[in-house]
Amino acid sequence: MKFSLDGKKALVTGGSRGIGRSIAIALAEAGADVAVASRKPADLEKVAEEIVKRGVKVLAVPTHVGRLDQIQSMVEKVVDAFESIDILVNNAATNPTMASAIDVDERAWDSIMNLNLKGLFFTSQAVARIMRERAGGSIINVASIAGISPDVLPVYSISKAAVIHATKVMAGQWASFNIRANCIAPGLIKTDFSRALWDNPEIRDAALSITPMGRVGMPDEMAGAVVYFASDAASYVTGQVLALDGGKTI
Ligand SMILES: NC(=O)c1ccc[n+]([C@@H]2O[C@H](COP(=O)([O-])OP(=O)(O)OC[C@H]3O[C@@H](n4cnc5c(N)ncnc54)[C@H](OP(=O)(O)O)[C@@H]3O)[C@@H](O)[C@H]2O)c1
Repeated sequence: MKFSLDGKKALVTGGSRGIGRSIAIALAEAGADVAVASRKPADLEKVAEEIVKRGVKVLAVPTHVGRLDQIQSMVEKVVDAFESIDILVNNAATNPTMASAIDVDERAWDSIMNLNLKGLFFTSQAVARIMRERAGGSIINVASIAGISPDVLPVYSISKAAVIHATKVMAGQWASFNIRANCIAPGLIKTDFSRALWDNPEIRDAALSITPMGRVGMPDEMAGAVVYFASDAASYVTGQVLALDGGKTI
């Protein structure tokens, strides 16, 4: 029962597709009411229909998580609907370029850092202020194994290393508010986002040749760890990074 999220209120950014969608549905299956936020309302409505079938409350909040005014309004809407936020999953991220470190430009840098790091941090700050007033909570950041060991995406890798460090900062500074912060670090997972990697035989085969399990992961395989970090089963766990990567980082 320590894995139960009955009565908890969760917010998942980037919850409409891919890994975020799987996480949002798994949190609902564990008993949490779930708010999902991303830019396209139609995609949010589709996942909301799936969540409500699990017998919990759902809220779809169209939001650009790279814009601070929209972050604040997203958090206010969730609190208005659910009264609190106990679980925050920072999952929205972007990578608009395959350029190497010698070629990548400032526009790509700003776009990646703005969403992957700045948006993640200020979403966490806004939600932590709510959690601090209530019973505390659990923040789960979606990093990447590219943040542990750099891959072909240079600025993305830097952003995800910073997400891991941001998680440790949150864990250290917010433990006194009864807020835990942990992150998952997915390996190569089959979503739209990573199509340029798993659909490219050269890049995919290079990755799988050093992945003991020898296959690409699926979005649903990311959700169990998030439910664990969100739940009382992880009540003494904070500041940790769990790689979900078929063994690639061992
Ligand atoms: N797939 C992989 O191999 C892999 C590996 C390691 C880590 N990850 C991480 O896993 C997370 C999810 O990735 P994914 O593969 O599931 O990607 P995905 O399938 O492309 O889904 C991305 C989600 O983020 C939302 N999003 C994108 N930009 C946004 C913005 N500015 N504001 C709000 N929402 C935004 C998207 O919806 P809208 O477009 O409607 O906004 C969508 O819901 C990311 O943090 C990614 O870095 C993925």
